[in-house]
Amino acid sequence: MKSSALSRIDLIVRALTYSQANAGIFRGEQMRILLCGGAGYIGCHTYATLSERGHQVAIADNFSNSSPEVLTRLRQLSGAPVPFHRLDLRDKPALEALFAQESFDAVIHFAALKAVGESCERPLDYFENNIGGTINLLQAMRGAGVRRLVFSSSATVYGDPEQVPVNEQARLQVTNPYGRTKLVVEELIGDLCRSDRDFRAANLRYFNPVGAHASGLIGEDPNGIPNNLMPYICQVAVGRREKLSVFGGDYPTVDGTGVRDYIHVVDLARAHADALDYLVRADRSLTVNLGTGRGISVLELANAFSSASGREIPYQIVERRPGDVAEVYADPGLAQQLLGWRAEYDVDAMCRDAWRWQSMNPQGYQGG
Ligand code: NAD
Ligand code: WQD
Repeated sequence: MKSSALSRIDLIVRALTYSQANAGIFRGEQMRILLCGGAGYIGCHTYATLSERGHQVAIADNFSNSSPEVLTRLRQLSGAPVPFHRLDLRDKPALEALFAQESFDAVIHFAALKAVGESCERPLDYFENNIGGTINLLQAMRGAGVRRLVFSSSATVYGDPEQVPVNEQARLQVTNPYGRTKLVVEELIGDLCRSDRDFRAANLRYFNPVGAHASGLIGEDPNGIPNNLMPYICQVAVGRREKLSVFGGDYPTVDGTGVRDYIHVVDLARAHADALDYLVRADRSLTVNLGTGRGISVLELANAFSSASGREIPYQIVERRPGDVAEVYADPGLAQQLLGWRAEYDVDAMCRDAWRWQSMNPQGYQGG
């Protein structure tokens, strides 16, 4: 085993310490919750949070962009077996069989393809997976009388916003097929809510999720060359990539590089639990932004990461990436007002936790 990789004993000690520290955190009604796409980056962190709050949680995933190793890690974290169904949302009979076999009070729907560039090359695959898969899911839920849904939407539905911070009233516009799938699904869910007076849904518009669980057991593990900034920086820091290419140094921003609203994935996970509580407590649907409200530039993030990790992040400024916008960050006020939620972790915590995950798992889940 490599010295930087985790030993089994280390994993178990961390998991026990973590679950003891979080025992007893429980608010709201205990629910049986299905996480579609729950083996992915945001889904597995949400599993950890919901389990800590005492919910009964099951995962359905086809592993198209995740690893079965996640289930082992979640078991180590929670100290209990992880109910799992290997299932593709495009397989409607399999979905219906699952809903016939098990009872759920709510579904959180993370399952989607999410690479913007790939969606431009293969739009039909994105429509089939993200829109077709969602329609199958909604039909299976309807057949089983499950009427609470939390949907992973995205700030991508705002396209290139006219002003920042962006609030939920901003004009919706999409610039690529991936974004279109998010907007279409939000609209489908809206129609369903209007047609079924008892259906309650939360559309959560995530800004830029980064970071990892404090245990270092779970984190972001993209296939191939990372498309997104934080996993790319992590791989430079750990020696898997030579240097960061900064896409554009002449934007009208604080230092010429793109500005985004990075949000710690553990804060994001907590928002899902709070949204479910809201659906029960307020008995209303909602659409909210999930961000910190603070814009961070590419170079600010690289510098913060360098300080957190003690590693230099060599970089080179190159051409702008087609389709990128200069500056996007959230007005997260509505989430605070409705859910009582606000992001707690700052950019230093995001970098520290991302680095802990990457340095403990240099090859991601493959190492281990
Ligand atoms: P991810 O790829 O890590 O997780 C998605 C999971 O869904 C994966 O485990 C994948 O195997 C599974 N999946 C995909 N299609 C499936 C299908 N047809 N049947 C069953 N399982 C399927 O992505 P993530 O970063 O955890 O994102 C979760 C959700 O949040 C996605 O819907 C994504 O579009 C959305 N989102 C992500 C970001 C981000 O930057 N990570 C930002 C905004 C919105
Ligand atoms: C952030 C900043 C880049 C990589 C994308 C999707 C969006 C959402 C999140 C799901 C930008 C710069 C990046 C690199 C760089 N996903 N960058 N070098 O573009 O805000 O959003 O992921 O819904 O839909 O579009 O995130 O992490 O790709 O980029 O300079 O190697 O980092 O130009 O300014 P983005 P990102």
